[in-house]
Amino acid sequence: MSAIALVPAAGSGSRMASATPKQYLDLLGQPLIAHTLCALLGATRLAQVAVVISPADEWWESYDWPALLGASFARLLVLRVGGDSRAESVMNGLAALPQSDAWVLVHDAARPCLRSQQVDEMITQLEYDAVGGILAVPVADTLKIASKEQSIARTTPRAGLWQAQTPQMFRQQALLAALQAALPEHVADITDEASALERLGKSPKLIMGSPWNLKVTYPQDLILAGLLLKSGAI
Ligand code: C5P
Repeated sequence: MSAIALVPAAGSGSRMASATPKQYLDLLGQPLIAHTLCALLGATRLAQVAVVISPADEWWESYDWPALLGASFARLLVLRVGGDSRAESVMNGLAALPQSDAWVLVHDAARPCLRSQQVDEMITQLEYDAVGGILAVPVADTLKIASKEQSIARTTPRAGLWQAQTPQMFRQQALLAALQAALPEHVADITDEASALERLGKSPKLIMGSPWNLKVTYPQDLILAGLLLKSGAI
């Protein structure tokens, strides 16, 4: 069974309000993405980790990656094929890889608190599945649907609602075909890999993730990620 990781890292991180894309912001003395790549390269069941950066990326080359990642740097592949949306970056990355029926675990560069062990466990749980699946956590908060005036239109029952995370694990060919079928027309609806498969009538599995596997989106998330990583709890 062969499995690889694909890391979309071609975003500009506009919600961070920073000139530097969030994947390169400093997190405990390293670029944020170095933590993400270390977690993936530490997973014993991943043969390779491919990272998708923007063709216009000016930051990647400025780091000493062998020093940051150690010997596992040899299993890293850099693809300068990022697109205008996350879905397009993933689609271009999948198309740039040698074509195979391998499992691909797509993981956001912006989720640096992933545990290597969780990646290995996910592969073990899904490797014989017909479709694949995603890490996710049950929704803890009460969810409100807002009106245009920002008052509550209604409360939606949270039972059965899960919050999607990454990695999201699918067969390379199936995921590539699902993204090609959805893009560019439905790009706004494809905010993760599973949604592309769902459009084709598939039902990916939900694998229990961790609330610590947060996505760095806003400046406060970077502070939280630093505290979590430093705490040694991850
Ligand atoms: O912007 P958001 O937080 O949803 O991005 C999730 C991941 O997708 C990030 O790692 C980001 O770098 C990546 N991305 C990408 N190409 C884009 C937009 C986002 O690879 N055009």
